[in-house]
Amino acid sequence: MTLRSFDRVADLYDRTRGYPPAVAGRIADGIVQALSDHTALDGRLLDVGAGTGRHGLGLAQRGVRYVGVDIARGMLERFRARDRAAAARLLLAEASRLPFRDASFAAALTVHVLHVVPDAERMVAEMRRVVRPGGVLLLGMDRWTQRLRDELYRRLQETFAEGERPPPPRTDAMVTQQMADRLEERGWYLEYRVLATIGRRTSAAEVLGSIERRTWSWTWQVREEPLRRALQQLRQDLLAEGGDLDRAVDDRGEFVLHVARPAG
Ligand SMILES: C[S@@+](CC[C@H](N)C(=O)[O-])C[C@H]1O[C@@H](n2cnc3c(N)ncnc32)[C@H](O)[C@@H]1O
Repeated sequence: MTLRSFDRVADLYDRTRGYPPAVAGRIADGIVQALSDHTALDGRLLDVGAGTGRHGLGLAQRGVRYVGVDIARGMLERFRARDRAAAARLLLAEASRLPFRDASFAAALTVHVLHVVPDAERMVAEMRRVVRPGGVLLLGMDRWTQRLRDELYRRLQETFAEGERPPPPRTDAMVTQQMADRLEERGWYLEYRVLATIGRRTSAAEVLGSIERRTWSWTWQVREEPLRRALQQLRQDLLAEGGDLDRAVDDRGEFVLHVARPAG
């Protein structure tokens, strides 16, 4: 897998992935709580794949000594534009080669990134390297219990012609859970905190339109023609089944934080 910079979606990222302010606030409060429960708040927090500051902005605003890295200049520029007090320190850097000395942070956080890097194990190893003894790793993710997009992804996969079918998307929840399990196997203590319930209203027309516009990263690898054909077929199938593509439905889930502490 090659590097997946989010520069191509920087302008629409907050519109398509943003949380309502109250939810973003609850998530930031929960992360600050996890930091204060397990490590001194005076230490620095590294956020790998900081993006536009969906979580980072609230952390920096709450006085966390926040350092965010990302490979996408456009995403960090949006973060900077929102961070009026310039509370966050932001740098261009790649997750598998973090430009920091060993043990230089109190904690390292990542949210919604492990599924898009070529080597998630390597990224977690780098996060471990830069966190000081006694520090924590925080792996955050959205865990959807009901999401129209997942159902339509499955249908779309089945609709691709034989030989044109792309591999199923690796979801963030899947890879994050895998990395949390690996840490536990290595003797780390894992704690699972639900910080907020999340949800949004959507429709099949909106989801299919987003796939067509390649809003989500798994579509970036899919060839144009097979994707166009599969989407057209899926739209026809849904209509033939009597589906109303514009009917609004609720996606539901929760924001989960895995808090990992080394044993001993
Ligand atoms: C889905 S976004 C998540 C951003 C933010 N953490 C959030 O939850 O909104 C993934 C981010 O990871 C960045 N990214 C992808 N691969 C990376 C890598 N190898 N090293 C650093 N950042 C990376 C992308 O550019 C993008 O900003």
